[in-house]
Parts: sequence; C-alpha cells; structure tokens
Amino acid sequence: MQKLEVLGANKLRGQINISGSKNASLPILASTLLSRKKVYLNNLPKVKDIETMINLLQSLGSKIKFKKKKLVIDNSRQNKKFASYNLVKTMRAGILVLGPLLAKFGYAKVSLPGGCAIGTRPVDIHLKALSKLGVKYKIIQGYVHATAPNGLIGCKIRFSKISVGATENLIIAASLAKGTTTLSNCAIEPEITDLINFLITVGCNIKWISKRSLKIVGVSEINEETYSVMFDRIEAGTYLIAAAVTEGNLKIKNVIPKIMRTEINLLKKIGAKINIRKDEIHIIGNKKIKSMNIKTSPYPGFPTDLQAQIMVLLCKANKTSLIKEDIFENRFMHVSELNRMGAQISINGNKASIQGNTKFAAAELMATDLRASVSLILAALNAKGKSIINRIYHLDRGYENIEKKLQKVGAKIRRING
Ligand code: EPZ
Repeated sequence: MQKLEVLGANKLRGQINISGSKNASLPILASTLLSRKKVYLNNLPKVKDIETMINLLQSLGSKIKFKKKKLVIDNSRQNKKFASYNLVKTMRAGILVLGPLLAKFGYAKVSLPGGCAIGTRPVDIHLKALSKLGVKYKIIQGYVHATAPNGLIGCKIRFSKISVGATENLIIAASLAKGTTTLSNCAIEPEITDLINFLITVGCNIKWISKRSLKIVGVSEINEETYSVMFDRIEAGTYLIAAAVTEGNLKIKNVIPKIMRTEINLLKKIGAKINIRKDEIHIIGNKKIKSMNIKTSPYPGFPTDLQAQIMVLLCKANKTSLIKEDIFENRFMHVSELNRMGAQISINGNKASIQGNTKFAAAELMATDLRASVSLILAALNAKGKSIINRIYHLDRGYENIEKKLQKVGAKIRRING
C-alpha cells in the first residue's frame, strides 16, 4: 500500500499547471456512448477515475486508445448494455452510462453505485426524471434494470433537488430523445456547461433558457468531432488554498479565473493577495488569516469539494470559524485526522466549529476520501516535521501527479511503498 511522506514546514513558490477536469471528463466520456462512430477527446487528466470510466466504456464494447495525448473512442461496434458492479462501485459516476445506453438502445442494466465515505449517494432523482422520459425500471439485486419500450420521449421535467449527476444524466439522455425536453432546477456547475459544449460540438441541440433551465431538442445521431475538456477548478482551488496555508507565492496556470470568482473573493477576504491574468491566478499568502463563516452550496456557491481544504486554512485564522456542509451528509471525515495534528475542530451535525491559531504538528495520518486526503497534505505541508499519509489511493482518483506538481514548487513530499 503506497503512502506519502511530507516534510514540513515550507512555503510553496513557483508555478503549477492545472490538468483537465475529472468532473467534466467523466460525464463527457459517458456521453460518448451516444455515438455510433468515433469521438476524439483532449486534455483528459491521468487519474484513476478516468481510467475506471474508460474500462467501463470498454466493457460496454467501446474501442478506446490514446493517440499521443488524444483519446480516440470508436463506438462503431459498441453494443453492450450491462455496467457491472465491480467497475461502478469504485466510481459512482458510473451511473452516468444509464442515460446514454437508454437513449441509444432503449435498454440498460447498470449497477447502483452504492454509498461511499461522504454519503449514501442515492440516484433516486436520476431514476425519477428518466421515468418521465418513458423509462420503466426495476431494482433487482443492486442493479437498475431499465427499458424504454417506445424510446425516450421528450417532455417537461423539474428536478426536485439540485443534483449535478442527475442533471448530466438527463441532458445526455434527452439529447437523443424524440421531441423536445425542458429541464428545470438544473445544477449549473461549469462541468455541466462543458458537457453541453461537448454535446453541441458533436451536433446536439441544447440551450439555456433561464438560469437553471435547459431546452433540449432530440437529434437522431451525434457526429465525429474532437473536443478539449475544461480545466479542473477543484484542483486549481486546492493549490490556491495550499499557497494561502503555507504563506507561499504561486502562479496557477491554464485556468479561467472568472469561473472561480467565489473562491477568489473568499481567499481575498481571508487575507491572501490575488492578481488575475487571462489564464492565470497569482496568489500570495498572508501571515494574518481572517476567520470566516462558510456554507457549501451548489455553483456558484462555495464548492463542497473544497470544504476540507478551506478548513485547514481556517485552522490558522485569528479567531473561530464555522463551516456548514450543506451538500453531503458525512463530509467531515478529515476532522478527526486534523485534530490529531493539533487542530481544535468540533462537529455538531453538519456544522463544524474551527478554533483558530492552530500550530499543526506532524503525524501519521489516514486518508478517507479524495478531498479529505488532500486536506491532510495541506496540513502536513504546514506542520514542522515528517508526516505520513496512508491510503493515498483515494488521492490518485482525482489529482494528477500531485507530488510532482508540489515538489516543483518546493514541497518536500515523496511517495513511499510501505
Ligand atoms: C458531483 O457528485 C461530483 N462528482 C462531486 O465531486 C461533487 O461533490 C458533487 O457533484 C456536488 O458538487 C462528479 O461530478 C463525478 P449531486 P454527484 O448529485 O453528482 C443528493 C469529487 O470529490 N442526491 O449533486 O453525485 C446527494 O446525495 C466528487 O470530485 C440525491 O439525494 O452530486 C447529495 O447529498 C465528490 N439523489 C446531493 O444530492 C440523487 O439522485 C448532491 O449530489 C442524486 C443526488
């Protein structure tokens, strides 16, 4: 089992190039199942979840290969409709193949994703909305058996709750449905806009008709095109916070700053100095860190995927801060590990109270989920001495070359087999 060894404390200085977005790549990869030809994708991040999604598509009959840095997906012979538990259980986004398989074949058998460290991860909103399009489904032994006997028929659908995955599944399914579908109360994360931009590139007819509503006119097939996936705003946000935690000086490149307005404004309020250029965010950390009260919420609010990371920064603030986790029911798994490093964080339901002026002490730590594990690295970078972080397979799911990118800006961090 691999571990990370981090020798703190040191300030990060230099430039980090941001990779493609995991959470844009996953729905875009799933949506390529709509094609009966080839599709070409650039800028996919080399992370475990992308590998798992590629394996899932190959298990469904897609022929996939890398040509230099471009992924070539050939679906001319893709005809399987069964997505197995052993692939979906490690990567919940596997449920996103349900929409395209139903749109293309009118039948799919897809494993329910099951829960994970941060929550039960139900898919009821996906299934309820798909049944509005004419899908009949049964849950048998942990699998969704779904059919659309007369094909998918466009209609008006309003999501009962804002869900990124359900919005993505329905956008993909409705793209090949007969007639027009309107989706309201949609999630509007930038990764969803990237999925829509990809689908329009391959010939789909999708447009925003209000802040959270979409109009989708079904087409009969999608075309052979090339698309480059957007940057990973959560990776970018993680490194911005790393600079603030270590009082460092970092240039974060290959980003679209306006997409990260909320995070940038918050970090400025906390005390960091930030300058923005076309595709770069330059951040200089500050010794004085102001306490903050933060609530996670759907875009354009503060992202739940940066909650663990900002908590580390708030441990160093001048007073007590509060964080309310409003998206997932169990996303404080990092708190006990941070408290073992000297933090004083108490939890009451979905609220965490973070006492400031923490001096992190190095320790042996356990990662529990993707974003919690990276928050342990941020704390370890700030703690004097050697920290060891176990179970870093969580990290490898969503951060490309994290130790190489951090080493390049001065972090003393290395992967060890243990
Ligand atoms: C996506 O998960 C992201 N994953 C998550 O990132 C991210 O935290 C989340 O959106 C919120 O922004 C990918 O894009 C692959 P949701 P998703 O459906 O689609 C409940 C990471 O670290 N819900 O918006 O699963 C759900 O339990 C990951 O990269 C239902 O109740 O999130 C949660 O409480 C973690 N029924 C809330 O809604 C449903 O049918 C939001 O979930 C679906 C969701």
